[in-house]
Amino acid sequence: MKNIAVLASGRGSNFQGIIDGINCGKINGKLVCLITDKPDAYAITRAKSNNIPVIVIDFSLFKSREDYNRALNKAMLEAKADLFILAGYMRLLDDETAKTFSGKMINIHPALLPSFTGLKAQKQAIEYGVKVAGCTVHFVDEGMDTGPIILQHVVPVFDTDDEEKLSERILKEEHIALPKAVELFCNDKIKIEGRIVRILPE
Ligand code: GAR
Repeated sequence: MKNIAVLASGRGSNFQGIIDGINCGKINGKLVCLITDKPDAYAITRAKSNNIPVIVIDFSLFKSREDYNRALNKAMLEAKADLFILAGYMRLLDDETAKTFSGKMINIHPALLPSFTGLKAQKQAIEYGVKVAGCTVHFVDEGMDTGPIILQHVVPVFDTDDEEKLSERILKEEHIALPKAVELFCNDKIKIEGRIVRILPE
């Protein structure tokens, strides 16, 4: 069984998907902690109602980004997790953290990477006029949303869509794709070969 730590900054619906996946026995893992940069994140309520320890590293209390990054890196090391999941964690990690946890840190992004990296990916997709969108689960490297891709789920974009409608459609797929990727990771079914991620057969 793998020990899992989740980093989240807000609502935490993807975090909830992991909790549910573990509770129903699909994910062979144990949540060791939630780490958040926001003391008012709703993800904290979800953690508490599931007896998952919460570590708040309030970004606004740090003098510099470097100090915050050092505290985050320390908390992650202390979590001793086999897998770190960025589930709506809205800060860029520093290079050292990306390197330290290389191969054991994954992120969910609400776009079909490599398109529309960074913030407001769904708005970027609407404004660009793409006809399909989706979500990507990928390993985290030093870049922004650039690491090796594990899974992608596609949704259509309709003429009548706005950012909100598209976000909702993508989010439904996120709630399937992220637990699936975590399940594969926990069953040792994921192999990274450079940029390419192979999913091993059952
Ligand atoms: C999700 O749509 C996730 O893909 C996105 O934030 C949302 C968090 O929702 N993440 C990013 O945009 C990261 N660049 P949640 O808190 O309900 O899981």
